Amino acid sequence: MALKRIRTKEEYEASYAESVKDPVGFWTAQADTFDWHQKWNTALEWDFETPNVRWFAGGKLNITENCLDRHLKKRGNKLALIWEPNDPHERFVRLTYRELHEKVCQYANVLKRNGAKKGDRICIYMPMVPELVIATLACARIGAIHSVVFAGFSAQSIADRIQDAQCSMVLTSDGLNRGHKQIPVKRVVDEALETCPSVLKVIVTERLGWAVNMVEDRDVWLHDELKLVDKHCAAEVMDAEDPLFILYTSGSTGKPKGVVHTCGGYMVYTDYTFRNVFQHEESDIFWCTADVGWITGHSYIIYGPLLAGATTLVFEGVPTFPDAGRFWQVIDKHGVNIFYTAPTAIRSLMAAGLDHVLAYSLDSLRVIGSVGEPINEEAWNWYKIHVGKDRCPIVDTWWQTETGGIMISSMAGVTDEKPSHAAWPMPGIQPVLLTADGKEILENEQEGLLCVKFPWPGMLRTTYGDHERCRQTYFSSYKGYYFTGDGARRDADGRYRIIGRVDDVINVSGHRFGTAEIENAINQAKGVVESAVVGYPHDIKGQGIYAYVVCEKPIPTDDKAAIENMRGEILEAVVASIGRIAKPDKIQFVTGLPKTRSGKIMRRILRKVAEGETSNLGDTTTLLDPAIVDEIKEGKL
Ligand code: WT7
Repeated sequence: MALKRIRTKEEYEASYAESVKDPVGFWTAQADTFDWHQKWNTALEWDFETPNVRWFAGGKLNITENCLDRHLKKRGNKLALIWEPNDPHERFVRLTYRELHEKVCQYANVLKRNGAKKGDRICIYMPMVPELVIATLACARIGAIHSVVFAGFSAQSIADRIQDAQCSMVLTSDGLNRGHKQIPVKRVVDEALETCPSVLKVIVTERLGWAVNMVEDRDVWLHDELKLVDKHCAAEVMDAEDPLFILYTSGSTGKPKGVVHTCGGYMVYTDYTFRNVFQHEESDIFWCTADVGWITGHSYIIYGPLLAGATTLVFEGVPTFPDAGRFWQVIDKHGVNIFYTAPTAIRSLMAAGLDHVLAYSLDSLRVIGSVGEPINEEAWNWYKIHVGKDRCPIVDTWWQTETGGIMISSMAGVTDEKPSHAAWPMPGIQPVLLTADGKEILENEQEGLLCVKFPWPGMLRTTYGDHERCRQTYFSSYKGYYFTGDGARRDADGRYRIIGRVDDVINVSGHRFGTAEIENAINQAKGVVESAVVGYPHDIKGQGIYAYVVCEKPIPTDDKAAIENMRGEILEAVVASIGRIAKPDKIQFVTGLPKTRSGKIMRRILRKVAEGETSNLGDTTTLLDPAIVDEIKEGKL
């Protein structure tokens, strides 16, 4: 039985105080509510130096038994999953807990039949169809480590991720629908696999009914395989600290890193945050619009909702197809009660005009949420009034791929909300603001670097295959703290407002990219010598990508054809090495980059110019060639 959720501000405060005084007692009480084959030996072992964090070690469980099997008695006929297709006229799918359980077991048997076993890494590159959720859970069922790659990434990106984790299998589909477009997913996988000898099997789900290339002895159709398997599959018994999945995310260096989450702690944390932040009720229909390819989809489409016995809605399409009313139409169609989306979607639908929202009642909505980037006040108010009808609480949830689940957020209708403020730390989360030299700021109405000073069950354990990188990135900047990479401000009452990244990471429409990663991609284009990428404020995307590019042969500023040609080359290079989602919004050709005498690019200056602030660039005397700054200013797009 789940513990009572927090229902009042007083309960939140009491719970928070208790969680700081006795974190281990607090989290073991939560952990006690799950089905374990065997309870843990040690509830928590940690040091942030190495780092070494272990929750519930020695505990034996399988997360899918907690997502599925344990609900069968009481919720066997309850809807676990509703699937809404891209095309509103195509039939939607509903699966009860009993049906989802059976499908996961069958898929798990398909994995086993094809040689997968506990500990293997399996790459999933699929559209948002029920089989994606089923495939992910099937991996967890047999103890294989899933690595879901968002189906918008390029063949090169898939290959990099497969090679890094040495995946032995890929789960994919023939193609996918995205709005008006159809994309040949299998062809992208085939291209990636040319450089991935570790992959022995590919399981293909039919979505578009396209004829695709099937490599003999390697590729099999899911529908053929399903005919050959049993519907029972005992869950593999896992240690709480066995890895559950790897999810790649960008950092300040060129190469994305594989964030590793483990079975026990992640389970406890996603369930707890799901139930409390959204104030989920038994009969609710919950819809998170993220893609399963991102952490939001892992934690709040699949694991959190299913652990809590909720009904989760999975949407294949995009917010603007067939028109900008699609989200609102889906809410009315399925009676969605809790709706969780991203500021970038809110801003783009806001720009599409009110008529699209006013055409629907949205009466079923009770709670609305936001995630992925800071939400500006204007978008917050629009969301509150036109979607929430001034009746639904908004939860602005701050967290990261690395944190596994929501860290700072109000709890819907329980703790108060304030526009642009994620607000309150979850019980069990101890955030601090640090000065640049690592001193804790104790006063309110102050700004600092956001760190966390005590472990929580959902936190990352390592970066796959490179523990030192995990230490360096998150635990070395400030001794004894987990460093988030974000800056934040605490208001007079102690609410947190996230300001944004303080490292070389940019957040475009809620998607994270390292500037170095995009630069590497641009530098692949023929004729490019070097480049520097910065973020700049963008009305819809939050941040846009601004690239300064130096070419072998300088391009005359009035040669439109040459400029267009080179732009094309650069965009193509980015699409090939990362994917469409990382295409620069602006490209400025320059003859050089502002560098210090030691060769370091002065990004501060580039950022200012991209932001449109050219008057006050600060000290430029340390530059190797100060004249370059004037050229850049003059050529500003
Ligand atoms: C970065 C993490 C966690 C889900 C999706 C993104 C930014 C996330 C908020 C928010 C302000 C936010 C931060 C963070 N971010 N949520 N509510 N308010 N900023 O996951 O790709 O790991 O990115 O997204 O900058 O560090 P991610």
